[in-house]
Amino acid sequence: MSKITAAITAVGGYVPNFVLTNKMLEGMVETNDEWIVSRTGIKERRILKPEEGEGTSYLAIKAAEDLIQKRNIDPEEIDLVIIATATPDSMVASTAAFVAAEIGAKNAFAYDLLAACSSFLFGMSTAASYIQSGRYKKVLLIGADKMSSIIDYTDRTTCIIFGDGAGAALFEPNEEGLGLQDEYLRADGNGRKYLGMDAGGSLMPATEETVKNRKHFIYQDGRTVFKFAVSNMADVAEKIMQRNNLKDTDVTWLVPHQANKRIIDATANRMGLDNSKVLMNIHRYGNTTSGTLPLLLADFESQLKKGDNLVFAAFGGGFTWGSIYLKWAYN
Ligand SMILES: CC(C)(COP(=O)(O)OP(=O)(O)OC[C@H]1O[C@@H](n2cnc3c(N)ncnc32)[C@H](O)[C@@H]1OP(=O)(O)O)[C@@H](O)C(=O)NCCC(=O)NCCS
Repeated sequence: MSKITAAITAVGGYVPNFVLTNKMLEGMVETNDEWIVSRTGIKERRILKPEEGEGTSYLAIKAAEDLIQKRNIDPEEIDLVIIATATPDSMVASTAAFVAAEIGAKNAFAYDLLAACSSFLFGMSTAASYIQSGRYKKVLLIGADKMSSIIDYTDRTTCIIFGDGAGAALFEPNEEGLGLQDEYLRADGNGRKYLGMDAGGSLMPATEETVKNRKHFIYQDGRTVFKFAVSNMADVAEKIMQRNNLKDTDVTWLVPHQANKRIIDATANRMGLDNSKVLMNIHRYGNTTSGTLPLLLADFESQLKKGDNLVFAAFGGGFTWGSIYLKWAYN
């Protein structure tokens, strides 16, 4: 019997309707379109407004429904729903359990997975392991974040970067050797002082003080994060290529976390890849945290061909980062 690999067999995506442009941000903080585009590559991002829906679960459900409808699967066949997110609906109750119930995945168990901007990448490893072991047949991995819920729209160093969005990928067994081939995943907790959110967790529970001092919003030391992201994302992508004897001509697509166009360019450059092989939608959505990788797959699905070699790379808070090599499984 041939070895079982874990392939992505369907994808879906969703971004909310409201478009927050650079021009609009110019009226909110001291910034300008030219600065934002030249430093980040971002032109606009999507924001989930209460008139449309609430919570990360809303985005996750929409992305899952897109996948289910396109692939025409029965939600009752799904064994497991994992939500990769840094902004769950609430503490304690699993967002994934709610999403599973709403999409009709009655027979699935469900949980959330948190590794900041690397959540989806790490989730790919988790989802693939369940499939490779033969334990489950259909694992739905959703990357979803409502970043606007933790952004301070008076802080120009963060509010220009992040947006809301979600993407979903279905993992199933494959006997042709397609799907996840190799992974190199890393973490270094010394990085948590450079990117995170101080209050709201067990270390600093919510008080009047924490609210007054704006501790429930994301902060980052942009310059330091940038330096770590540039070198670490490029290092792991290069390592995955070397370990699998992949030359630049063997890589069909780089699927990079969409944090900053300059970080993406540096990674592609180290891999020796031409721009035409780099999937990018940061100009439209900004950094949607756990949503970036599956949203790329959903947006570029029609261009991906069976057998294509995809190299994923991500970097995020914690710090967490890594790279995955996957062979695309369908046309
Ligand atoms: C945030 C980021 C875009 C800032 O770009 P940068 O080139 O590093 O800019 P700096 O932070 O060095 O700031 C340069 C100047 O621009 C100013 N500036 C910061 N934000 C600005 C904004 N939105 N508009 C205009 N000016 C701004 C700074 O105050 C600074 O001014 P000064 O020189 O007078 O002190 C960049 O550091 C970055 O992308 N970092 C990584 C962030 C990231 O990816 N986070 C998520 C990881 S998953």
